[in-house]
Amino acid sequence: MMNIAVLVSGRGSNLQAIIDNIETGCLKAKISVVISDIDNAYALIRAKKHGIQAVFINPKNFATKELYEKELLSLLKQKEAGLVLLAGYMRVVGDTLLSAFRNRILNIHPALLPSFPGLKAQKQAFDYGVKVAGCTVHFVDEKLDGGPIILQRCVEVKEDDTEETLAARILEQEHTIYPEAVKLFVEDRLRVEGHKVIIIN
Ligand code: GRF
Repeated sequence: MMNIAVLVSGRGSNLQAIIDNIETGCLKAKISVVISDIDNAYALIRAKKHGIQAVFINPKNFATKELYEKELLSLLKQKEAGLVLLAGYMRVVGDTLLSAFRNRILNIHPALLPSFPGLKAQKQAFDYGVKVAGCTVHFVDEKLDGGPIILQRCVEVKEDDTEETLAARILEQEHTIYPEAVKLFVEDRLRVEGHKVIIIN
């Protein structure tokens, strides 16, 4: 069974969706560790509630990003992680992690990439006036929110939407496609060819 490590910074609703899919047997994998860069992240509490090891690693304790990521890396290796999930992790992944986990780090982004990368993607899309918003699961590479796309889901923008109601409907879809993408990875059904991801049936 594949060991998964989840990196978080906040409320952890996507982490919860992955946990739920594992507990119901839809996703055959194990979360071996949840790591947060924020000490009071609610995601850590969620992990503990499900008996998952939850660790706070304070980036401020390290002189450089490289040293911080080396610490993360040694924990990931110790926990024998075969896949790393970013789930609301608010840091840009650096070379140390990327080169050790090439094509083995996934992220969920609350917009239809390549539109609206970066922070507050739902607000960016809402303010732009798009008629269709959505979310994306992608591999993580050097480019911010720019790695090969695994799955996307559309969410229609309604006339009476606010930024909040739209974000809530996008989040519902995130909770569906992230576990689906993880399942595809765990079942070894993803092939990265250039910037494209081929899904094997
Ligand atoms: C989600 O909207 C995700 O797409 C983005 O950060 C948010 C994290 O939410 N990367 P949660 O911590 O999973 O609830």
